[in-house]
Formats: sequence, C-alpha cells, structure tokens
Amino acid sequence: MSSPAVIRYLTGITTTGTPHLGNYVGAIRPTVAASRRAGTENFYFLADYHALIKCDEPSRIQRSTLEIAACWLAAGLDPDHVLFYRQSDIPEVPELTWLLTCVTGKGLLNRAHAYKAAVDKNAASGNDPDADVSVGLFMYPVLMAADIIMFNAHRVPVGRDQVQHIEMARDMAQSFNHLYGEHFVPPEAVIDEAVAMLPGLDGRKMSKSYDNTIPLFAPPAQMRKQIAAIVTDSRAPGEPKEVDGSALFQIYQAFASADETAAMRQAYAQGIAWADAKQLLFERIDRETAPMRERHDALINNPAEVERILKAGAQKARAVATPFMARLRHAVGLRDLATGAAAPVRKDKAARTSLPAFKQYREADGHFYFKLVDPQGRVLLQSRGFGSPKEAGQVITSLRAAPGEGLDGTQVELAPGAARAEIVAALNQLADAS
Ligand code: TRP
Repeated sequence: MSSPAVIRYLTGITTTGTPHLGNYVGAIRPTVAASRRAGTENFYFLADYHALIKCDEPSRIQRSTLEIAACWLAAGLDPDHVLFYRQSDIPEVPELTWLLTCVTGKGLLNRAHAYKAAVDKNAASGNDPDADVSVGLFMYPVLMAADIIMFNAHRVPVGRDQVQHIEMARDMAQSFNHLYGEHFVPPEAVIDEAVAMLPGLDGRKMSKSYDNTIPLFAPPAQMRKQIAAIVTDSRAPGEPKEVDGSALFQIYQAFASADETAAMRQAYAQGIAWADAKQLLFERIDRETAPMRERHDALINNPAEVERILKAGAQKARAVATPFMARLRHAVGLRDLATGAAAPVRKDKAARTSLPAFKQYREADGHFYFKLVDPQGRVLLQSRGFGSPKEAGQVITSLRAAPGEGLDGTQVELAPGAARAEIVAALNQLADAS
C-alpha cells in the first residue's frame, strides 16, 4: 500500500461576535493544538459569508473578523503552517456554491435543522412558514459544503450541531461526482469527545444567542465581574457543594489539569465559599489567557498586520482553489469554445446516467471502501478497507487511469459473478465518457 496520505482538516468560525470562553475551549484551543499534529494539513478560515446570513451590521462583521483572527493567532495558530484565510477572499467558494446548488435537491435543504426550526417556529405562531427566512439561511448548507469540498478536506472538526451539514456536504460531493466524475472526496465530521461544551453564566450552553457569554479577552476587571455573575446555588460558606450541574465547576475543569480539578472537587466537598471558588476560577483562566493577551491586543491595535496575514493565507488557499475550479468548470461544460466545441454532443442525459459508477462509503469498522457498480446497480468490484477517503480515492483514480491494471486482488476484488472483462469494459466506458 502507498505510504499513509496526509489528512486534510478544515474548519471555519462564523464572524458575528466577540470570541468568548466557549469559542476558545470548543474551537480555538483544540484547532490550534490539532494543527500541530504531524501528517495533517490544516485549513482554518473566517466564515464571513456565513456571517451575512445572521448579521446585517457591517461594522460588527468587520470587527468580529478582526477579533476572531486575532484570537486564533494569539492562541498560537501559526500562519506559516496552517492555511489561514477569510472565506470572502476566495471567490471560487461562491462559484462552487452555484455548481453545487444545481446538483442539490431542494428536498435535501428542506430537511436542514436550522431551516426546519425556523419554519416550525413560524407554523407554531401561525405565520407564513417562510416568514423572515432568507434564501441565505436556506442555502447555508450549500455554502458550507463548498467551503469544505473546495479543498477536498477529509475531516471537519465541528460541534454536534454541525454534523448534519457535513452529511449534506457528503451528499452534494457524491451527487456531483456521480454526474461529472470523481472530483470530490466526501468529507467526514470529527467530534472531539474530549472537548468540553462550556456552560455560560446561566448554566445553559455558552452562546451568543443566549447572551450568557464571558469574552475571552475582556479586561481582567470585567472578566472578574462576569465570573462573579455565574449562577450558583444558595449554599453558604462551609456547606458542602455539588460539582454535578455546577457551571462554575465545569468551566474550571475546562481550564484545569486533572490534579487541579481533583483539588477543586475536594474544595467543593469541604464547603468552599462560592466567592472563593470564583476567585480560583478567575485566577486559573487568567493564567491561561494572560500570556496570549499581549499578542491579542497588539494584533487588535494593528489590523493591517492581520489583514496582511489573511491575504497571504488567501493566496495560498487560492493556489489550490483556482486550478481546481478550472477543472470543475470544465467538468460541467463551462469551457473554452475554441477547444472541442465543434465536436457533436455525445451523450444525452439518459446515456450519461447509464454509466457504471464508483461509490465510496464508510463501514462501521471505521475504514473507507468503494465499489464499482454497473448502471443497474450490480456490484462489479469491491475494495478492501482504507485508512482514509483519500487513499480510497487514489486507488479509484489509478483504476480509472489504467483500465485492467490493479485488479490483482491487493486493493480490490472482483465481485462474485463479475467477470474481469466486464470490469475492464466498464472502466473503459468511464474513461470514454470523461
Ligand atoms: N457553520 C459553522 C458554524 O457555525 C461555521 C462554518 C462555515 C464551517 N463553513 C464551515 C465549519 C465549513 C466547518 C466547515 O459553526
């Protein structure tokens, strides 16, 4: 087998707010740590086109883009090592969005949780189902799919609420591949179980939409005040306290080592006063954020430097996106008329959809497989399991490039009842059609 391929990770943060402790613990800190792993390539970006769906305040979007970029950089993101860019600097992304729009069933988007929630809310209040629903909200999953598959990312670290979007991106990648050939790797969501979901001031998930956040780089006096506002119960100093369901304890745990957490657990049992526990939390957070604060503040005060870093990142990202987009344009028929336009139209839709196809999928064993099926859906070839979608894709590419080679049983097996000649014919048919 070929040497293990580099695994490409990609994730974005929507630029609608000021980064808070929840963003830091849930997205910024883990992505920075992940970007240092060997054998990975990391694409991290500021999703400002997505921000337009939720926010119509231009200055807020601009400010949030600066703040989130500064946070990521202050937390240790190395822009020489990570492809770090702003979504709206990559014009290929909205361009790909359109191509995907044309291969995506409206029904798929009707089922998106965020859109459905908006419609259900309207129905419940007796409004028109689509009242206040923009087409942007409806199209949110298509733009997100374009973000991901533009760079053929294998894995997408996200929160649980985003998993459906990644599933949809897979569907769109597969629909496009089915119609136009194998261009996209179907991406996968990765949920880091070790990453804490941080509660906010009121104990619900820390989120801008609940207005219960603690900004990451608030001035220390303000941070102290906000920590004092975290809900606790009314137990008096000296009374033992419960760690279960204590937002204060959970936030502490997200910053503390195992030993520190154990000590805090014991302090709760021994009846630490809430004011003292809050002081310890403040000190623990400050210990982690203080070293980043200087760099953060310097970047906020030098937006031109952040702009320069993002522009340099966009240039690297476009070095991937621009040639890939050219290939996709060609695949769908947006072509230079001087090359080949004189050729008669070869295939009508019926002929094209009656081609054999490679289908990629993942099994419960965690491995990535593919099979070659004929137009009636009969399996001709079955692959073994691969460690990544990319490896599977590479084998497909080489099978397609040289019909008849590589059928020796190391990577793929002929399906029962399928003849070798039949498979070679199917691969030739695919080669002719592309
Ligand atoms: N929708 C994501 C969020 O709100 C942000 C996002 C946009 C994203 N495009 C993406 C995340 C692509 C991962 C991959 O959290």
